[in-house]
Amino acid sequence: MTTTALRGGLVITAAEETYADVLVEDGTIAALAAPDSACARGWSCDRTIDATGKYVIPGGVDAHTHLDFPFGGTASSDTFETGTRAAAWGGTTTIVDFAVQPRGGALRAGLDAWHAKAEGVCAVDYAFHMILSDVNDSSLKELDLLVAEGVTSFKLFMAYPGVFYSDDGQILRAMQRAAGNGGLVMMHAENGIAIDVLVQQALDAGRTDPRYHGEVRKALLEAEATHRAIQLARVAGSPLYVVHVSAEEAVAELARARDAGLPVFGETCPQYLFLSVDKLAEPGFEGAKYVCSTPLRPREHQAALWRGLRTDDLQVVSTDHCPFCFAGQKELGRGDFSKIPNGLPGVEHRMDLLHQAVVEGRIGRRRWIEIACAAPARMFGLAPRKGTIAPGADADIVVYDPHARQTLSAATHHMNVDHSVYEGKEITGRVETVLSRGEVVIDGREFTGRAGHGRYVPRSTCQYLT
Ligand code: URP
Ligand code: ZN
Ligand code: ZN
Ligand code: ZN
Repeated sequence: MTTTALRGGLVITAAEETYADVLVEDGTIAALAAPDSACARGWSCDRTIDATGKYVIPGGVDAHTHLDFPFGGTASSDTFETGTRAAAWGGTTTIVDFAVQPRGGALRAGLDAWHAKAEGVCAVDYAFHMILSDVNDSSLKELDLLVAEGVTSFKLFMAYPGVFYSDDGQILRAMQRAAGNGGLVMMHAENGIAIDVLVQQALDAGRTDPRYHGEVRKALLEAEATHRAIQLARVAGSPLYVVHVSAEEAVAELARARDAGLPVFGETCPQYLFLSVDKLAEPGFEGAKYVCSTPLRPREHQAALWRGLRTDDLQVVSTDHCPFCFAGQKELGRGDFSKIPNGLPGVEHRMDLLHQAVVEGRIGRRRWIEIACAAPARMFGLAPRKGTIAPGADADIVVYDPHARQTLSAATHHMNVDHSVYEGKEITGRVETVLSRGEVVIDGREFTGRAGHGRYVPRSTCQYLT
């Protein structure tokens, strides 16, 4: 048995902040004790990590990533190896990625393919959601089997007609099935049919630049789809989790549903909290770097997102990490913004950007841990192993220096992508040490982990409902 003691730090969970020593035994948190008492109390400490003056926080849980994801005529540029290593650098020790049902094929085939991509190469632990791209009698039956084996959430798309799109009838049937088997429906809520009309009209009028991506994907069409998804979930009697919420009007729909007591949840992402639609107008086609869906919004929307995070109308911040290089990938859409692969890199920066929000007084420290670690773990059935620091939990722990300064840049990040959407952004705070199930995977400026350390984690059903 190897033991590690993290000594003298401020241990922050979603529930409390307390100066304590944390003892790790063989990959699991064994105990918390009064500061600097650990070794004195006779704990055998093979290794001690001095966390004096630092925060000791749970490893981040990023519930929305797309590694090695075929999309937009190409594939996202981070593999499971590079993406999970970048996650570790940023203090994220669990990711939940999206396996994809091949159109016309079985869920099982998609899940097997994603297991094959991830097996033996991940630096941190991983789990899977399933993207339903073809809701039919047989895929609905398969949902029950997936829930039973730990894939307990499914993403459906009201956007991307001809790719992942499901119509309202298919969505209703999937929700009914989820109501019966305990699965959680995750919704990409944008009215893709209406958006495609606006896309064609824009292209016909010669509006081909990246900035028109932001104009055609209207906030009202996000709000409309969010409203429709909520009503469909109500009819089906199922819970609903709306992914990558960016529009103020969509937050209002979620807030209204939650005020009415409905089991409706929402996620937003750092890009919507920190970036705005004017990025899409950057000259020289640079705006393409900021093309994602839902799109970046005018800055005014950000206040509603921050408020939603404070009032718990939004529960989770995940990254929707879906990187495409500018060279050769984003460039596929030169002359036609609708051909720019949708997605932004970010898995490395979520914990830091949200800490910056703590520094700026937008959220408190415990709320930081709640939205980045504890809530995603509970939402997706990973608690109590993930998302907290408590005896019995996996020793996924970050020693975080709240005073260190850093500047985000493509020159220094570890994601496999040739640009940073946060280039030049200054952050107060920095990950210092990262433990994944007790193993030190980041030690200061060094990656000490290994491809294949990360394990697949089967999940229980949503723990927000019990
Ligand atoms: O633009 C995005 N969000 N790309 C990833 C796919 C999705 O819709 O989440
Ligand atoms: Zn989506
Ligand atoms: Zn996504
Ligand atoms: Zn310091």
